[in-house]
Amino acid sequence: MTLPLNINGKDFDISANATDTLLSALRSAGFFSVRFGSHDGQTGAAAVLVDGQLVNSDVMLAGQAVGHKIETVEGLNPGVNELHPIQKAFVETGAIQSGYSTPAMILAAKALLAQNPNPTEAEVREAFSGILCRETGYLKPVQAVLRAAAYLRGEEVPPYDGPPIIDATFYAEHSPAPEDDGPELAGGSNLQSPVSTQTKPQTDIVLTSGVPETAVVGKPETKVDAVKLTKGNPAFVDDIDLRGMLYAKLLTSPHAHARILDIDASEAEALPGVHAVIHYKNVKRVKYASGGQSYPNPPPHDQVSFDNKVRYVGDRVAAVAAESEAIAEAALKLIKVEYELLPAVFDENEAIKPGAPIIHDEDDTEEIHDASRNIVHHIQAEVGDVEQGFAEADHVFEHSYYVHQVQQTPIEPHIAISWWDSDERLVIRTSTQVPFHVRRMVAPLLDLPVRRIRVIKPRIGGGFGVKQEMLIEDIVGHLTIATGRPVRLELTRSEEFRSSRTRHPQSITWKAGVMADGTLHSMQMKIVANTGAYGTHGLTVQTVTGLRGLSSYNCKNREFDCIVAYTNLPVPGAYRGYGGPQALFSLECLMDEIAAALKLDPIEFRRKNWVQAGDLMPIAPLLGEGEKRDGHHRAAD
Ligand code: FES
Repeated sequence: MTLPLNINGKDFDISANATDTLLSALRSAGFFSVRFGSHDGQTGAAAVLVDGQLVNSDVMLAGQAVGHKIETVEGLNPGVNELHPIQKAFVETGAIQSGYSTPAMILAAKALLAQNPNPTEAEVREAFSGILCRETGYLKPVQAVLRAAAYLRGEEVPPYDGPPIIDATFYAEHSPAPEDDGPELAGGSNLQSPVSTQTKPQTDIVLTSGVPETAVVGKPETKVDAVKLTKGNPAFVDDIDLRGMLYAKLLTSPHAHARILDIDASEAEALPGVHAVIHYKNVKRVKYASGGQSYPNPPPHDQVSFDNKVRYVGDRVAAVAAESEAIAEAALKLIKVEYELLPAVFDENEAIKPGAPIIHDEDDTEEIHDASRNIVHHIQAEVGDVEQGFAEADHVFEHSYYVHQVQQTPIEPHIAISWWDSDERLVIRTSTQVPFHVRRMVAPLLDLPVRRIRVIKPRIGGGFGVKQEMLIEDIVGHLTIATGRPVRLELTRSEEFRSSRTRHPQSITWKAGVMADGTLHSMQMKIVANTGAYGTHGLTVQTVTGLRGLSSYNCKNREFDCIVAYTNLPVPGAYRGYGGPQALFSLECLMDEIAAALKLDPIEFRRKNWVQAGDLMPIAPLLGEGEKRDGHHRAAD
């Protein structure tokens, strides 16, 4: 079926059904600036203008747009090497990070400025309120719109020199905070139009602080591919057209813990348009660990592409490749799975208790510390003697903290496309942060030598660690091998929440021995960390937690004792800060509480104990950093 759509002032006959989303219709016609974020319009990444109004094309049917004027960012592009004033302002102000939400922001700005040529900062922020951006913090996009407004009003707009670079040490040493009402750095509230930023004195002050004059560092620099991103030109994994591409969908577990007794995909395979259905019965059982880590991946290698056991809601059960996403979805419903439900455990402290359900009872996973107690790793390191230290201390404090599970939520979900190239190499184009690890890790799963695999990592729409994983690349690889066709798999937003990765929840107990003068004397950090159903980054993230927790303040005696537990939670992985945020959140709470209890100034208490340049970090070598010094370390596991 074709639909007559007027896009950017031109009439098109788009091959799409009236019930397809406008998003899929526009992307099938090559308007790649319109991006998928979720099926419910929550991210705003699929925003377009319809009769000048900003609408989410992922919650609008293509048929509803017939007879209306649709605008995408491609329509703003005045020509090669030319930019629309709004695009120019976004490039100049550096208002683009991943660039995934940029086209939507530019259209929101166009709609606003068409109604209000001289908006306030609050009005600009309101215009952006339906567009989630995970990286910019909106500071520079707001500046960009105010700047574009000045351009469109025909005003003289001075060169952009960006927010002032504040040399914190200069202020600490030289002067009280300057009296001025200029722009705040933290996405503050009193941004003025670009004309006024020129007069701000403090940039000069900073430059005279002995910081060497630089040509690039500390100066605004245009992003190398800013033009591509501000024009919505193809940049991301999904921005390609491949002849004969099949669409994959994942069947995931509705149960937190279950054995798969049998799976019957015959009906699904018989559905017209279905080319392959893969699951544990027809995919070779090759053990791996999905964490994108340097070679060799730390043990345990506790995963396989498709297992006859599921260990969290969202765990893989099967995958289908079909002529369309709709056919693949329908085929999923025809796959019959016979489950034996097992008791589940979600709390890391409960999981290590005797009698807890055993998450990994298979016999082909090596190097689990104690599978019978769901203990993947037991990491211990000590410098000095903390118990002796507590006995010597004047005050001893013991407090517990909990850090819960959070998701990285990049606006672009995980997506991967694979095909055979003309040299019969398997190409995997994927939204990943670890292309080289992916290539090395996927090879044994696909039974292919590394040299016959090419991984392409275009721009990604946000990562924050969640794409530091070999997450779905083996699935598209298996399906391309099974069908001989290009295969595309994109996770939905709920699959991204359930089946990708998160931050590690941790139960943390600090015990601190403090001398009467406020000197830290003995610090013990005990953690039970939750790695969910699989180990992935369990060892390395928690090791960093210990390192950051016990290397931020000087202290004679320090001990780190961490148990990493399996549970039936969705799987944590790498997340920005990689174990550091859990450590510093709990540590700084502890420091405040000790200072309050000892009636000490919290800053002076910290200053007295904080690590200074040149100080030793004796626990670091015991936690994998630098060469070993004194202190003892009972190796993990
Ligand atoms: S620049 Fe906004 S999501 Fe990346």
